[in-house]
Amino acid sequence: MTTIQTVAFDDQKPGTSGLRKKTRVFMQPHYLENFVQAIFNAIGGAKGKTFVVGGDGRFFNDRAVQVILRMAAANGAAKVIAGRGGVLSTPAASNLIRQRKTDGGIILSASHNPGGEDEDFGIKFNMANGGPAPENITDAMFREASVIVSYNIVESQDVDLNAVGETTLGGMAVEIVDSVADYAALMEQLFDFDAIRAMFTSGFTMRFDAMCAVTGPYATEILEKRLGAAPGTVTHGTPLPDFGGMHPDPNPTWAHELMDEMMGPDAPDFGAASDGDGDRNMVVGRGVYVSPSDSLAVLAANAYLAKGYAKGIAGVARSMPTSAAVDRVAKDLGVEAFETPTGWKFFGNLLDAGRVTLCGEESFGTGSDHVREKDGLWAVLLWLNILAKRKESVADILQAHWRKYGRNYYSRHDFEAIETEKANAMVSALRKLLADLPGRSVEGMTIAAADDFAYTDPVDQSTSAKQGVRILFEDGSRIVMRLSGTGTQGATLRLYLEKYAESGFDQDPQEALAPIIRAAHELADITGYTGRVEPDVIT
Ligand code: G1P
Ligand code: ZN
Repeated sequence: MTTIQTVAFDDQKPGTSGLRKKTRVFMQPHYLENFVQAIFNAIGGAKGKTFVVGGDGRFFNDRAVQVILRMAAANGAAKVIAGRGGVLSTPAASNLIRQRKTDGGIILSASHNPGGEDEDFGIKFNMANGGPAPENITDAMFREASVIVSYNIVESQDVDLNAVGETTLGGMAVEIVDSVADYAALMEQLFDFDAIRAMFTSGFTMRFDAMCAVTGPYATEILEKRLGAAPGTVTHGTPLPDFGGMHPDPNPTWAHELMDEMMGPDAPDFGAASDGDGDRNMVVGRGVYVSPSDSLAVLAANAYLAKGYAKGIAGVARSMPTSAAVDRVAKDLGVEAFETPTGWKFFGNLLDAGRVTLCGEESFGTGSDHVREKDGLWAVLLWLNILAKRKESVADILQAHWRKYGRNYYSRHDFEAIETEKANAMVSALRKLLADLPGRSVEGMTIAAADDFAYTDPVDQSTSAKQGVRILFEDGSRIVMRLSGTGTQGATLRLYLEKYAESGFDQDPQEALAPIIRAAHELADITGYTGRVEPDVIT
């Protein structure tokens, strides 16, 4: 065991989901080590504890796992459980942390960001409940990282990450586990595999685009092997360190191959994609795209059709920018609905307290109390379970849903890699404007209220301020703006747009939202501040 002297880096501040930087930043001497030591320091040390370690397999994942093993040993951890090859999807890691009753886990991923030596890398800590560390802990990590002077590491040979079974490293137990097995077993408990298998047997067709990322082996095992989907249902199913050059973000822009197939003449019945670390999902029917906010609402309304949720759901939670579609379902079901800041960590307390069963975000994240992360494949399986039980198409289910609840037209516009100063100037100008906005008319619509979203956690009363600017119109339409907390280059402005309709469900969302889009540009002067006229990505 050696103690290495180091110098603090001043930029190790975790964002929406852990610390994300360019891979080369993490590859600098001491950079990863400093942050890992800061994690251990922030959680009161590693002595005697058991952790899960794994990542999405992107470039540098294997090296980082070796470093973490050696540092966990040097910091006195009793045991580390790692996925084979150092790979675990984020939901599978969350599941392992919970199933094995460990003290938490370190997950290596930059989620949906591209991977490779010139792309992105990330690291985050999840607590014993399997969920991302809350803000007081990530703040402590930043404080520790800012004053760090040394870290502990064992000098040793690499552990063979491909040898499933137990070994030791500097007195610490290391267990390498099959990355897929426990997760697949959990899915079998929640969903009616027999009903889904029968649907595939009777000719139901599907495409699952794993985008050369971590979900490939999970999807192949569950969909093709256990549920009998045709071989080849899973495409891009082999995880690659650079995701084969793909941008593993399951949205219509980046999963365009899947979109083209689903909108084409020979589309299968159902399509889905997931992201780099397997926690996001996109769902598409034949000829119809399901927005993540609608997906959450449909899942909440139909969850009872799956055996894991047959008793009904306790409540739902959505991030503030997510559309209110699921709130309408909650009202109908007579259960609580919560509105939280962006980021999965804000769902943890509600899930732990049993106040909510399902939660979701507009950013292609959906999940339930089965783990404490969003879960891409879980959402796909719940959809399959619903399709198997209702025996209707995705398009018909969506139409029926809108007829019952109305439709929340919704879109998000992303303006990426804006110069940070320009983005900050725009947001502070907008914040100054907020108090004067109520009563003002723009694009023929009157503003009812405007604020900067602040949240008080209903379970532990912790507060989070400045979570996004909201401009609410009298007709219930809404504009939300916030800056991304996961990017690694400049600033990304996210503009969220929503409008509720009681009839007329077949409009193109961009057309339905056109006046609201113009209003957002006018109020925030997006072009004036940033020079941008059109968004880079529309979802
Ligand atoms: C983005 C999404 C957010 C999600 C997070 C992690 O964060 O908007 O909903 O929880 O990625 O997947 P952002 O970049 O907006 O801070
Ligand atoms: Zn992800």
